[in-house]
Amino acid sequence: MSEIRFDERVAIVTGAGGGLGREYALLLARRGAKVLVNDFGGGPDGSGGSETPAQSVASEIEKAGGVAAASAETVDTPEGGRVIVEQALDLWGRVDVLVNNAGIAGGGAFHEIPAEQVSKMIGVHVEGAFNVGRAAWPAMLERGYGRVVNTSSGSVFGIPGTSHYMTAKAGIIGFTRALAREGARVGIKANAIMPIAYSRLTAMLPAEDFKAWLREHYGPERVAPFVAWLAHEGIPCTGEVFTVGGGRAARVFLGVVPGHTASPPTPEAYRDHFDEVMSPEGYEIPADAMEEVAMASGKIGWPGAGPPDMLLDSD
Ligand code: NAI
Repeated sequence: MSEIRFDERVAIVTGAGGGLGREYALLLARRGAKVLVNDFGGGPDGSGGSETPAQSVASEIEKAGGVAAASAETVDTPEGGRVIVEQALDLWGRVDVLVNNAGIAGGGAFHEIPAEQVSKMIGVHVEGAFNVGRAAWPAMLERGYGRVVNTSSGSVFGIPGTSHYMTAKAGIIGFTRALAREGARVGIKANAIMPIAYSRLTAMLPAEDFKAWLREHYGPERVAPFVAWLAHEGIPCTGEVFTVGGGRAARVFLGVVPGHTASPPTPEAYRDHFDEVMSPEGYEIPADAMEEVAMASGKIGWPGAGPPDMLLDSD
């Protein structure tokens, strides 16, 4: 089988001054991509800022014979997104791959997290991906080609004490599915990962024994190969989410169970059939919102074969 390569491709990796992003940048560069290493260079909570992390990873790539440039812009402003993409376009004339990886951490009881921390969390993760993605999109449209890899988190399954982070990472799933729909007919594919890796973010976890185990088995270099595959021309899917860590990659999906259709719908009917509402047996995985509507309307007796006309894809 042929080697997965990125010759002639230009990749932007945000938050690539350390942790997972650094591994993505190193691997993509080793496989031939020209890489814009973006990192704001601040603390794990998003404070401060320094050019050093991005510079040092770009230098590391160049010393190994690769092509890279450093960007210390922040992703959490539209201007930052624009400048990051412009730098890649000015240097290399194209953007083929965007890995939205920049992220910060933070915690606290739901009712105690200050409003500005909520804004910062949504700003870096969700708006950050929007800002760089929106700036890169026209360049991808122009060439009819693009690969976007976004970073969600397994915290979406539920974890106490980090509601703003979980909310932001759940937003990334919607963002990914939106880009997948809009990119479907124009050669752009977007997928997301929920990484599991030992990094300075997971080093903040309190449980020492779990951290030691993570360090041993979940190095960030064990996530990067799957990200490279998602960033490659050959990836067959779009709009998907994967949990990736320790060498394992597995699909995570939004599915719908058959449920119970009550006629007439009364509170008692749902109480009496709640097992059917909940049972995962016979679940389906809608490819998009229209398929979900088709599944639902089929249950209610829509006589057409597909979804109602007014809901047919208009993109
Ligand atoms: P990390 O802290 O080593 O990497 C994040 C990088 O993003 C840092 O280098 C930081 O300077 C940069 N960054 C932060 N704000 C930025 C901004 N406004 N503009 C540009 N760069 C910025 O942590 P790690 O673990 O490598 O995280 C990478 C991504 O993976 C993050 O989005 C994180 O939320 C996500 N993630 C990581 C998990 C893990 O197990 N390590 C689990 C789930 C998600």
